[in-house]
Amino acid sequence: MAGGPRVFVARVIPDDGLRMVIDACDARVWEGELPPPRDELLRAIEGCEGVLTLLTDRVDDEFLDRAGPQLKVVSNYAVGFDNVDVAACTRRGVAVGNTPGVLTDTTADLAFALLMAAARRIPEGDRYVRSSQWRTWGPMLLLGPDVHSATIGIVGFGRIGQAVAQRALGFGMRILYHDVARLPAEVEDRYGARFLPLEELLAQADFVSLHVNLTAETRHLMNAERLGWMKPTAVLVNTSRGPVVDPKALFEALRDGVIFAAALDVTDPEPIPFDDPLLTLDNCLVVPHIASASRATRGKMATMAAANLLAGVRDERLPTPVNPEVYEGR
Ligand code: DGY
Repeated sequence: MAGGPRVFVARVIPDDGLRMVIDACDARVWEGELPPPRDELLRAIEGCEGVLTLLTDRVDDEFLDRAGPQLKVVSNYAVGFDNVDVAACTRRGVAVGNTPGVLTDTTADLAFALLMAAARRIPEGDRYVRSSQWRTWGPMLLLGPDVHSATIGIVGFGRIGQAVAQRALGFGMRILYHDVARLPAEVEDRYGARFLPLEELLAQADFVSLHVNLTAETRHLMNAERLGWMKPTAVLVNTSRGPVVDPKALFEALRDGVIFAAALDVTDPEPIPFDDPLLTLDNCLVVPHIASASRATRGKMATMAAANLLAGVRDERLPTPVNPEVYEGR
């Protein structure tokens, strides 16, 4: 239906959410597999009241200027929103929405899958078989650390970090965590989790799983010095945001045996270039930012992002606003 508020949807999202938008708005949908190039994006949002963005679309002053003063809402199809200058949106009275909660377990599933795959060297084993190297059962073949009963250090103990802890409990793991502040005792007790300063957590953990937002403070949180605090037998898992890890420092740490392995769902930059040195290492597993990629979860993210967009263009409070302060004084 053409009619209703003008909106731009920056990629095809699962149908349930897309239908909600198309049925209620004068919607233009970017049909490309790749994100709209910047100039196309800026052209497409001119005059829109709402934009449904992805983490590949940068929302900054330039974006907001080009959209125009009638813009009411930016609905980000992700729980993370480091692609959005939230302060700039708030200054202009633009509500920002995200999709928290629905992807927690799916993301934790992938974090745990990466942890196990890196520890038990599953991608290496698969490559070994496919390249016709498998000749016999080998006592020393593809040895790695045990997952069960090991110590996991979870950096960022919010929703997803705790869901990883829940999985770790099933493997009899000892759980350490670090966050900006210690969590209430009832949260710690639920997982038998112990708060430690980052340096101590890194020194004790067999597995380190990152679950922090990307901010100025967490950019390159895992630099050469902190990687150096980890055990040489340890595995680093990153399903948060690529820039939380310094890629050059990680390459050197993996190459030089400072740590045993890394498993990354996110890289810096994304996509990781084909000739990135990390991709030359057998002890580095990389998947293309798929932590939330189950059919059910992506569907829920779509309806949630659509609900935020529709609420915004109707001057209603977003179901899940990132900047609730935008409503102060309204
Ligand atoms: C997010 O939601 O922030 C993920 O990175 C993509 O689902």
